[in-house]
Amino acid sequence: MKLLVCGGAGFIGSTFTRQRLLEHGDEVTVLDKLTYAGREENFHDIAQHSGFRFERGAIEDEAAVARAIELAAPEAIVNFAAETHVDRSIAQPDAFVRTHALGTYVLLEAARAAELRYLQVSTDEVYGSIESGSFTESSPLAPSSPYSATKTGADLLVQSYFHTYGLQATICRGSNNYGPYQYPEKLIPLMVLNALHGDALPVYGDGMQVRNWIHSTDFSRAIGHVLEHGLPGEVYNAGGPDEEPNIEVVRRIVAATGASDSQIEHVADRPGHDRRYSLSSEKVRALGWSPRVRFAEGLEQTVAWYRDNSWWWEPIRSGEYRAYYERQYGRSLA
Ligand code: NAD
Ligand code: TYD
Repeated sequence: MKLLVCGGAGFIGSTFTRQRLLEHGDEVTVLDKLTYAGREENFHDIAQHSGFRFERGAIEDEAAVARAIELAAPEAIVNFAAETHVDRSIAQPDAFVRTHALGTYVLLEAARAAELRYLQVSTDEVYGSIESGSFTESSPLAPSSPYSATKTGADLLVQSYFHTYGLQATICRGSNNYGPYQYPEKLIPLMVLNALHGDALPVYGDGMQVRNWIHSTDFSRAIGHVLEHGLPGEVYNAGGPDEEPNIEVVRRIVAATGASDSQIEHVADRPGHDRRYSLSSEKVRALGWSPRVRFAEGLEQTVAWYRDNSWWWEPIRSGEYRAYYERQYGRSLA
């Protein structure tokens, strides 16, 4: 396939791009604005691949999108482009509204004009929090943060383009991803790098919030699977095989890095913090996808990747991220 992958310079988008180039022989053009979270370093091993092309540009920029479509001549657009950190959405929601609402609209219009297939990458957070059981694709949408509310708005717009214009669009909603190349503001890479540096490990509230962890290679395969086998107009959930309270995840990281339990520090809770996420993936499993990586094994591999790839995170930990960390946590990194 020829694909236009928007937001492909980020964590999951670059994992998906690598998978499609190397395992499926696809041609991939990435369109990415390169926000703080988008990095050309994420293409270090595929930049010279003959099927790969990179265009810098924003999805809300009609001219940039038109140019990328002209260059890529794609059969489908896969949209990963998003602001993705809940804490940043609480502090500064504006970019979330612009990228998720306006950006998704511009891409949908471009897909409609060129009669392209469209896949929107979405999140379990659109369903809100669930005390017990798991969300299915027909669960009510009840987002609680500016991040999840604007992602929900984007999903509804995508569905309206299917219903109104017959756009061949699907949505794939993932649970919490982890793996190599994840920006260190997120729980797992933040705790791994802090553990390796002797920094405090800041657990929000009681740490008993539960997340449903999926390895980024498994979520990327689910997205590819939905692209190839999903029905237009449908939503597919892709949840990981394991759920764990945050404090248990942090304890595993302490053990895997040889850090000390005394580094764990309970800090003020996130405002409006969702207690538990859990996805039922029966629908995409019925199409033939299932996750391959169990959390215990995937986490060990992820810790090893961060330990062995300081070239990747050193520029981040010495740059803008330090100022972000001070604003968010009220203390500096070691
Ligand atoms: P990320 O923050 O690592 O990457 C986002 C990418 O989008 C970056 O490369 C950034 O430069 C780019 N981008 C942001 N705004 C843009 C714009 N306006 N125009 C063009 N590019 C723009 O995020 P990620 O974790 O890789 O998430 C990718 C997608 O997967 C998002 O849509 C997110 O909502 C979804 N998702 C993430 C998770 C998770 O746990 N990380 C779980 C489920 C779903
Ligand atoms: P995060 O990685 O931000 O993902 P999300 O909010 O999308 O689930 O956070 C995962 C969980 O970890 C969430 O319950 C918040 C918690 N958390 C902490 O306890 N401390 C931290 O420093 C961070 C970043 C997250």
